[in-house]
Amino acid sequence: MNKRIYLSPPHMGGQEQQFIQEAFASNWIAPLGPNVDAFEKELSDMAGMAGGVALSSGTAAIHLSLKYLGVGPGDHVLCSTFTFSASCNPIVYEKAIPVFVDADAESWNMSPAALEKAISDLNKKGIKPKAAVVVELYGRSADYDRLLPILDLAGIPVIEDAAEALGSTYKGRWCGSFGRFGIFSFNGNKIITTSGGGMAVANDVDALRTMRFWASQSRDPGRHYEHSQIGYNYRMSNVLAGIGRGQLRVLRDRVQQKRKIHSRYREAFGDIADIEFMPCIDGCHSNDWLTVITLKSGSAVSPDAIIDALEGHNIESRPVWKPMHLQPIFVGCPFYSQLDAGSIAENLFKRGVCLPSGTQMTESQQDQVIQLIRKIF
Ligand SMILES: Cc1ncc(COP(=O)(O)O)c(C=O)c1O
Repeated sequence: MNKRIYLSPPHMGGQEQQFIQEAFASNWIAPLGPNVDAFEKELSDMAGMAGGVALSSGTAAIHLSLKYLGVGPGDHVLCSTFTFSASCNPIVYEKAIPVFVDADAESWNMSPAALEKAISDLNKKGIKPKAAVVVELYGRSADYDRLLPILDLAGIPVIEDAAEALGSTYKGRWCGSFGRFGIFSFNGNKIITTSGGGMAVANDVDALRTMRFWASQSRDPGRHYEHSQIGYNYRMSNVLAGIGRGQLRVLRDRVQQKRKIHSRYREAFGDIADIEFMPCIDGCHSNDWLTVITLKSGSAVSPDAIIDALEGHNIESRPVWKPMHLQPIFVGCPFYSQLDAGSIAENLFKRGVCLPSGTQMTESQQDQVIQLIRKIF
C-alpha cells in the first residue's frame, strides 16, 4: 500500500524550530511570552487590523468574540448553515439560539437573500439578532459587498469566521478584516498550523484587551488571585506561537502552492462535464485551502464512489460539510433557506467532495488522484 495521501496535512517551513528554540533558551515555556506577542502583531499587521489575541483554538476566538458582543441566554445569533460545527457551537456555550442561514450558489457562503428573509422574519417577531457569524468556506470569501450593507442597516455586528481563509483576500482586503472580529484557526489541517490554536483580530484594541483578560482566567490586577468575572484558560502557549511565527513566513508560498494544486485539478477535469468546481466570487483571491468539486445533478457518479475509490488507494478525501440545520444537535433551531423548498446548502452537501490539497503532495501523487477519479468516469 502506498504512503497515505492526506487531505491537508501540516507542512512545516523550517524556521519554526528557531522560534521554538528561542522559547526554550529563554525558558518561556508558558502560556504567553514574546512569541505570542510577536505572533499577534505579525498576523494582525498582515491582515491590516489593529491587533490580535492568540488563543488555544479558533473556536475559543469565536466564543470570546460572541461574549464580547454581549451574546447571552435567549439571544438569537445568525450563522452560515454551510460550515463546520465550531462556527456555531460557541453560540450555544452562551445559551443563545443559532439561526441558520442558507448558502448561495455563487459563493457557497451566506446567502444575502436568505439573510434578508431571516432578519425580516425575526424582526416581525420582535427579535433583533445580536450578532452574525459569517463563514468563509474552504478559503473563499463571502459576498461582503452584498452582506455588509444588510447587516449594517440592521445594526448586527459581524464575526467573520475566516478559520479556513487565512491568506485569502476580497477586493484586495484580507479575509478576516471585514467584521467587528475576524477569527483564524491554526488547527493541524489548516493552511498554516500551530498544531492547534486560533486568533481573533480586530480594530477595537479595548475589546482585544478584554478578550485577553477573559482568556487568562479573568485575573484581576493585584498580588493575590482575585476574580470578579468568569475566566477561561484559552491562551496560546509561547512554544506554539513560535511554530505560528515560523509558519507565517511561508504563508504566501503555501497559498501559491494550494492555488497551483487547484489549477492542476481544474485542467485535469476540464473535459469531464459532470465535474464542477466550487465557485469563487468576483474580487476573491482564494487561498484554495481545499479544492472542492461537485458532481452535476443526475450524474451517474456519486461523491461516495469517488471517496471510496480514493480510499481504496489509501488517499483521503471527504464529503463537504453537512449543513448545521440538518445536524441532530441543532434540530429545532430556526433556518432560513434561499429556496422555497429544500436549500442550496443541502443540495451542495449531496454533490460535493473535498480533494486532497496538501502543499507537500507531489505532482505524481496528484496525478494518481486525478487518474483514479478519471477512471470512474
Ligand atoms: C469554518 C471553521 N470554523 C471554525 C473552526 C474552528 O477552529 P479550531 O479547530 O481552531 O477550533 C474551523 C476548523 O477547525 C473551521 O473549519
